[in-house]
Amino acid sequence: MNIAIDGPAGAGKSTVAQRVARQLEYVYIDTGAMYRALAWAVLQKQLPISDENAVSELLKNNKIGLVRQAGQQRVFWNEIDVTDQIRSPEVSQSASIVASYGSVREQMLVLQRELAKQGNVVMDGRDIGTHVLPDAKVKIFLTASSRERAERRWRELREKGTETDLAELQKEIEERDRRDTQREVAPLRQADDAVLVDTTGMTIDQVVDHILQICERTG
Ligand code: C5P
Repeated sequence: MNIAIDGPAGAGKSTVAQRVARQLEYVYIDTGAMYRALAWAVLQKQLPISDENAVSELLKNNKIGLVRQAGQQRVFWNEIDVTDQIRSPEVSQSASIVASYGSVREQMLVLQRELAKQGNVVMDGRDIGTHVLPDAKVKIFLTASSRERAERRWRELREKGTETDLAELQKEIEERDRRDTQREVAPLRQADDAVLVDTTGMTIDQVVDHILQICERTG
């Protein structure tokens, strides 16, 4: 059984998906991290991000790895562990730009389906239920108001010692949502057979329990 969790930026997908995977003893696959790794490399190499061909070639000629270490997923660009670097606001915005390119998505689709082949995966992203794993047994569309998503991100960053401006964060999240929902290829949308979970006002525990119940009912 595979589980697809999609939704807008900052809806808590990765935290929830990781917890659900741990509970069910499934493998967690963070597809956003793959677009982030590519964006990180584009920035590192100072390639023009508007050049779809150059971005696509970069992906073709390098390797993105998702590796489990000590119970956590680490992200590699070739041999470089980029797990921490790919979380910056600059990488977030750039990730949604490289993710709008059809030639990039085509390659990612192949990589992601290969990763899911093992079965029993919880995969999170934007197009998992609609494109990557259309046959996933359980599909969840996780969302929350943009204000709440910004507040969560703000708290998360503060806990890590980074002070940010809440209004600025909310603006960035809305900008990324707009780009993700309006792109031509595999835009962010709820699959027809996905269950909508609005997490506004819910705790992580409540969301995880709710999803586990949905899995139980479906499985
Ligand atoms: O989920 P996360 O915020 O890490 O994703 C970063 C960006 O990668 C998103 O804003 C989106 O543009 C892109 N993405 C995507 N399809 C996915 C996962 C992520 O387009 N399946």
